[in-house]
Formats: sequence, C-alpha cells, structure tokens
Amino acid sequence: MNKNDNVLLLVGSPKGSSSTSNSLGDYLISCLEQLGLTATKEYIYKLIKKEEGQKKLLAKVEEAGMIILAFPLYVDCLPAGVIKALEFIADHRKSKRDREKQGFAIIINCGFPETQHNNTAIAICKVFSREVGFEWMGALSLGMGGAVGGGSLEERRGMVRNVIKGLDLAAQALAEGKDITDEATEFFGKKFIPISLYTKMGNMGWNKQAKKYGARKKIKDQPYL
Ligand SMILES: Cc1cc2nc3c(=O)[nH]c(=O)nc-3n(C[C@H](O)[C@H](O)[C@H](O)COP(=O)(O)O)c2cc1C
Repeated sequence: MNKNDNVLLLVGSPKGSSSTSNSLGDYLISCLEQLGLTATKEYIYKLIKKEEGQKKLLAKVEEAGMIILAFPLYVDCLPAGVIKALEFIADHRKSKRDREKQGFAIIINCGFPETQHNNTAIAICKVFSREVGFEWMGALSLGMGGAVGGGSLEERRGMVRNVIKGLDLAAQALAEGKDITDEATEFFGKKFIPISLYTKMGNMGWNKQAKKYGARKKIKDQPYL
C-alpha cells in the first residue's frame, strides 16, 4: 500500500464516538475510502492518557500520508487534549531529519451559529502544520455544531445537505492530493437552520439539563459577578 493513500482521522472531541466531530470525520473518511484511499480512525482522548497510547498516536501519524483532525472549538481554541496531542507530535517530529511529505487538514465545529468563531483555532492549526513540516490542505469550519450531534450524517440528510455537499467536494479534492477548495468550505459552513430556531433548541436543551440536575432555579445565577 502506498503511504500517500493512507489517511488517519484523529477525533479530538472528549465525547468520542458520540460527538459531532466524529460524525463529520466519519463521513469524510468514508468518501475518501470510496475514492480508493485507506482510512483509519483514532480517538485522541483515548490515546493521550497513557504512554502506550501516546506511542500509538505517534506511530499512526508516522504511517499516514494524510492526517485529518476533527475537533470542537473550546474557549476559542482547541480542547486541552488536542493541544497535548499536537505537542507530542511536534516534539516527536523535531527529532526527525528526513520528514516525508504528509498532508494535514482539519474539520472544526463550534457551538455558536457563526463559523468565524473558529478562525483563531484554524490559524493555530495552520501554524502547527507549518512548524512540524506537514503540508496544510485546508480547514472545514462549521457553526451550530450542537444541531449535528453524534450518529451518521446520512440520517439527517435534508438538514445537513450542504454540509454533506461540502464534505463530498473536500473528499474529491483531498483524494486528488489537492487542497480543500473554497467551494467545499462554503457549502460546509452554510447555516443549515435559522439562528432563532437553533437558539430556541439550545435553550430547551439547557433547561432540560438544569431540570435533570435540580438546578432549574439556579440557571440565571452569576456566581462570579
Ligand atoms: C468546555 C467547552 C468550551 C466551549 N467553547 C466554545 C467556544 O468558545 N465557542 C463556541 O462556539 N462553542 C464552544 N463550545 C461548544 C462546542 O464547540 C460545541 O458544543 C461543539 O458542537 C461540540 O462538538 P463535539 O460534539 O465534536 O465535541 C464549548 C464547549 C465546551 C464543552
């Protein structure tokens, strides 16, 4: 098998298989597999806890011709476990002289409706990619991530049809060794439900959780004021 055809999906959500990151990443690698590439998936939070897992992470990265990192936005940045994983990779690659060409692309999703909240995290990943000698192949950036949730994208087909179109176009480009196109990014990042509806659904979700934990009357507390 040609190393260039070997894709590694790294899921960087602590929610693992029930995360939006996982749904989006799964769809993309299934498209890449249909286009003739081979893909494997690893959950970052499972790997980074122990030395054995950290070694596995580094070995998997070494074997891959293309790495796709799918993760949620946390506090305008990357989740701590993802930062840790990127630090491991950076340290490991410092010691390597002959670094082979490896592609690096990301799928990022955030809870706010607008995609621009992801811009700082995308810039961080771009710098990481350059510093470790990866070849930056682009970012797919999504808002309203909470409305996607876990499970397969195909199940939500109508609502996420533009997200799917964006992933299809991105897979086509990546499989040909090209960067993710602007067209793919645009489709992927299109708002797929009205903001008012998304906010309403979000509020219902918070209220449901507050009720579950007996915190209904505390939901408007501001303890740090
Ligand atoms: C600790 C934490 C911090 C977050 N910070 C942000 C943020 O700064 N901006 C934002 O839009 N969403 C933020 N979110 C929301 C997540 O990005 C959002 O729920 C996302 O869809 C989760 O994706 P996942 O299912 O792949 O983990 C945060 C969520 C958590 C748990």
